[in-house]
Amino acid sequence: GVSPKIAPSMLSSDFANLAAEAKRMIDLGANWLHMDIMDGHFVPNLTIGAPVIESLRKHTNAYLDCHLMVTNPMDYVDQMAKAGASGFTFHVEVAKENWQELVKKIKSTGMRPGVALKPGTPVEQVYPLVEGTDPVEMVLVMTVEPGFGGQMFMPNMMDKVRALRNKYPTLDIEVDGGLGPSTIDAAAAAGANCIVAGSSVFGAPEPGDVISLLRASVEK
Ligand code: DX5
Ligand code: ZN
Repeated sequence: GVSPKIAPSMLSSDFANLAAEAKRMIDLGANWLHMDIMDGHFVPNLTIGAPVIESLRKHTNAYLDCHLMVTNPMDYVDQMAKAGASGFTFHVEVAKENWQELVKKIKSTGMRPGVALKPGTPVEQVYPLVEGTDPVEMVLVMTVEPGFGGQMFMPNMMDKVRALRNKYPTLDIEVDGGLGPSTIDAAAAAGANCIVAGSSVFGAPEPGDVISLLRASVEK
């Protein structure tokens, strides 16, 4: 369905207080918690992995929307599933040959498969994954270069969101990077319904107001 999903990116939270930060976001109305898994190889940054997901899972029932910025996503499926991940979104740039096997494996664990694309990757590359016999259930359109929070939203990525929304009226389309009060209307108008927001939420004096504003823009 295309109902709004507001997903604070926990990359901008206080990692030393992750359980409390997660609870705070859910209490403020977040639908999902976006978890950025980086391997220091696919992107030039290193964040968290399955052990942290497993620890967090003991403190929350929330949907953990895991975004794997890793070179070998297949190697992470079992460990992420065991840790309690809800969604498993891999990058199309590293799944060219084995994506059917990868999606099947993700589904077999009960996680929800998604595919992400970097700003330089043409949107056409994800079409086969949405249309396959074992389709992904979400497409994540990166609106910054993956690796770091706090970067500027790339408005020209909205062409990809519009193309996806025109082809797939009920697909979950997620945008990630630079989303906040000044950029949400462009993303929502293009057809995005899953909204990742890190620095704009955690950096706000009232994060709950930002979450409400993001939701209202998607709903209108
Ligand atoms: C970037 C990550 C994003 C990031 C978004 O590689 O995928 O999820 O945390 O942060 P903001 O909202 O600050 O751009
Ligand atoms: Zn992300």
